[in-house]
Amino acid sequence: MQELEQRPGGVTGPAPAVLAQGVTKRFGGVVALDNVTFSARAGEVTALVGDNGAGKSTLIRCLSGVHSPDEGGLFMNGAPVTFSGPNDARLAGIETVHQNLALADNLDVAANLFLGRELSGGPRSLFRLRKKPMEAKAAELIDEYGIRMPNIKAKVGAMSGGQRQGIAIARAVGWGSEVVLMDEPTAALGVKETGRVLEVVRSLADRGLAVVLISHNIEQVMQVSDFVWVLRGGHMIADLRAENTNTQEVVHYITTGVGLGA
Ligand SMILES: Nc1ncnc2c1ncn2[C@@H]1O[C@H](COP(=O)(O)OP(=O)(O)OP(=O)(O)O)[C@@H](O)[C@H]1O
Ligand SMILES: [Mg+2]
Repeated sequence: MQELEQRPGGVTGPAPAVLAQGVTKRFGGVVALDNVTFSARAGEVTALVGDNGAGKSTLIRCLSGVHSPDEGGLFMNGAPVTFSGPNDARLAGIETVHQNLALADNLDVAANLFLGRELSGGPRSLFRLRKKPMEAKAAELIDEYGIRMPNIKAKVGAMSGGQRQGIAIARAVGWGSEVVLMDEPTAALGVKETGRVLEVVRSLADRGLAVVLISHNIEQVMQVSDFVWVLRGGHMIADLRAENTNTQEVVHYITTGVGLGA
């Protein structure tokens, strides 16, 4: 279904790859998201920014099937979807790199890439993993996404933050996903590693994925994003075209709730 929809800046285009409409999520007395609308389109990096506790991870968890919204709905390419768990979201084409990467430190790269979806050799050897095909596929993914990895047989626990992030990203995008949600992929990285991860982020969008990027580093956000959405205290207060704004204004929105001209 191709729906036309008005978007910021008066541009019209096809329905977003993913849309959260009027989503409210409460935890006891805390309203983590209050009637929040957010969308991300194929081929674009859509940033989601805001202070600690603004509701960013909660929104990501609603989009990835971890939480069910108390109110509001989710749509993919214009069609309503409901997820009763992360697996439903995955099957629909939404993959997530969570704030904590959830890698298994004692396993090697291939095993981490296949966590939860190991290739098995049919019913008789259901629980015996086919190591060679997994390693070959792992090498292909690592290569395809330009992730620098000394040895895919090395245990992940001994790897640098950037390499770990690379594995988590390859795991998320290597399976025909349409939407990839990244919750602070550069938070723990050095300058060089951050640069590489941002290149991967951009290249994923250039390949046609809808990429959602959460980061506290607004300068980085401005480098790679097409749109910047600002959450503040559970409210979506701005959706800005990156080329029409700047770091200073985005920071102003985050800290005061209004833009520079206001
Ligand atoms: N599982 C939970 N149970 C109770 N409260 C929660 C839960 N998850 C989030 N919250 C609350 O919801 C609000 C939003 O939290 P969230 O983690 O979404 O913020 P965030 O924008 O991701 O912050 P940060 O930048 O620190 O990661 C906070 O007040 C938080 O304490
Ligand atoms: Mg968070």
